[in-house]
Amino acid sequence: MNWYLTEKRALPWRSEPTPYRIWISEVMLQQTQAATVSPYYVRFLGRFPNLETLAKASEQEVLALWSGLGYYSRARNLHKAAREILGSNGGVFPSDFETIIALPGIGRYTAGAICSLAFNQPQPIVDGNIRRVITRFNGITIHIPESYFWKQMQAWIPEGKASVFNQAMMELGALVCLPLQPHCMECPIRNNCRAFKMNLQNRLPRPRSRGPTRNLEMVVLVLHKKNKLLLVNKLPDFIPGRWGFPSQVIPSRSSAEENACGLSRKICCGLVPLSKCAKLSHAIGNRRIVAHVFAGEASGQIRPAMEELCWIQRSRTGEMLTSSLFLKALSKTEC
Ligand code: ADE
Repeated sequence: MNWYLTEKRALPWRSEPTPYRIWISEVMLQQTQAATVSPYYVRFLGRFPNLETLAKASEQEVLALWSGLGYYSRARNLHKAAREILGSNGGVFPSDFETIIALPGIGRYTAGAICSLAFNQPQPIVDGNIRRVITRFNGITIHIPESYFWKQMQAWIPEGKASVFNQAMMELGALVCLPLQPHCMECPIRNNCRAFKMNLQNRLPRPRSRGPTRNLEMVVLVLHKKNKLLLVNKLPDFIPGRWGFPSQVIPSRSSAEENACGLSRKICCGLVPLSKCAKLSHAIGNRRIVAHVFAGEASGQIRPAMEELCWIQRSRTGEMLTSSLFLKALSKTEC
């Protein structure tokens, strides 16, 4: 906790930790990193500084301010919950865990974060960073159930210090106890860390066993218009990240060309002449993928779906694409 108090990042939701501000930040942080969230958070709070302004806004405006963060059900649920609180509790954010967790879009993690960070109640939180810190600190080399992490956090919360403790654990995972090459020499708790003692920090947490290798073929479409490329946020579920090029798995006994044309027709109303650019190999988890990359100019209308499509400057695609499959595909096209 002393380490946290001197080393923590100055993130916008850390000044004035009211329940409303913590709630918005934790919902934004559910699937998005702090550096990405920060400017969205500042803009959102600028327009909706309190629960009442959010509850009284139109859903459309809330979604517009969320645009680019993805997972839009988060924004819809925020708006719905704000209206519920305004209706039932006179606009006062509830402080009771059971009432908070019953609100739309709030699960165990977010309810725990609001109770501990805003009300300093001794509620545990567990996210990916915390799971990694505990796994290394306790030297866990086998697969253990999720409940273990919650019980461990609950047991560790020092009396009267839930807020600082929970944030310190998250911050340690975000800044020091990194997934790859953790900075153990900067770690304030390394002397008690089992992984560090056994020099296992680079091997824990152990990757989950993958199961048998699966081979599959996919089509990936790089559609361009002027100097922009089309990204979608509906991807086959094994592809990491939110945005990518339109892609689909090719069912057995059909051709890459047929699938590429079929997929382009789902997106564009007009006919898109496609050219085949590359056939590349890529692995994700236990999947061995052969990807057929097609490129084409998207003429005619794009079928509208605000949440599912975006046009992005080619030079900015690197910020949006998480899977290196798409970066490889892009490098094979001229558009
Ligand atoms: N990730 C989730 N919650 C966070 C918080 N409060 N601060 C920094 N990163 C976070």
